[in-house]
Amino acid sequence: MNLKIFDSPEALAEAAADELFSCVKEKPASILCLATGDTPLKTYQILVDRSIANGLDFSSVHFVGLDEWVGVPSHNSGSCAYFLRRNLFDPLNIVEDRIHLFDAVSPDLNSACTKMDNLIAGLGGIDLMIVGIGMNGHVGFNEPGVSLELNCHVIELDEVTKDIGQKYFDERIQLEAGITLGFQNIMKAKKVILMANGLKKADIIKRMLEEPISERCPASILRKHQKSCTFLDSPAASKLSPVIARVSSSN
Ligand code: GLP
Repeated sequence: MNLKIFDSPEALAEAAADELFSCVKEKPASILCLATGDTPLKTYQILVDRSIANGLDFSSVHFVGLDEWVGVPSHNSGSCAYFLRRNLFDPLNIVEDRIHLFDAVSPDLNSACTKMDNLIAGLGGIDLMIVGIGMNGHVGFNEPGVSLELNCHVIELDEVTKDIGQKYFDERIQLEAGITLGFQNIMKAKKVILMANGLKKADIIKRMLEEPISERCPASILRKHQKSCTFLDSPAASKLSPVIARVSSSN
């Protein structure tokens, strides 16, 4: 795993947007899987602006969902689907048949998982994933203690996720389960970038990068991915021991 530490959240967002822009420029039929949440918001705004300014063609790109709150419909403004449509798909005019998100209100969630696994395999795998990290170390909804053998699955949410997840919703909501790509899907992606910014992420980033790799901090599993990179701003990197932080300047 590579590590890059940026001076500001803006520089971090620019760098992640660069990765997405280059990926689509080099391979117009890229398969992208993008996290929602506060962390990548600026990245997507930069990507949209730059893509429109440069006429980057997204018409052949496929977008694959990373995760969704079970029971939350896509028209709820707190859903991952709503976030992606508002911040990415609508401004980039992505057509419906290129958008592949989890149906989290399906009466048959297991079929929704199988459908997503088959879709990703049929598309030839994910080219680039941009993921965030939860305050408990989750990636997507791969919660602490998750089995690493899983493909797409439904999982009971950790208490930390249920609590912090409220921030995305206008009104208090019962959050019990998530539907998510599993580590089997994530580890097969050709490239994975994990982004984190702000001092509030410093403790979990230290755990991710310095504790022994374990499903107790699911993001630490990404250290085993051949082409993964952690992009941090300096506050998020501020609790790393100097020897780990130095890795970033050697890359
Ligand atoms: C959310 C999502 C993740 C996201 C993470 C961090 O609950 N399920 O996909 O990456 O938690 O979110 P934020 O960027 O808002 O801190």
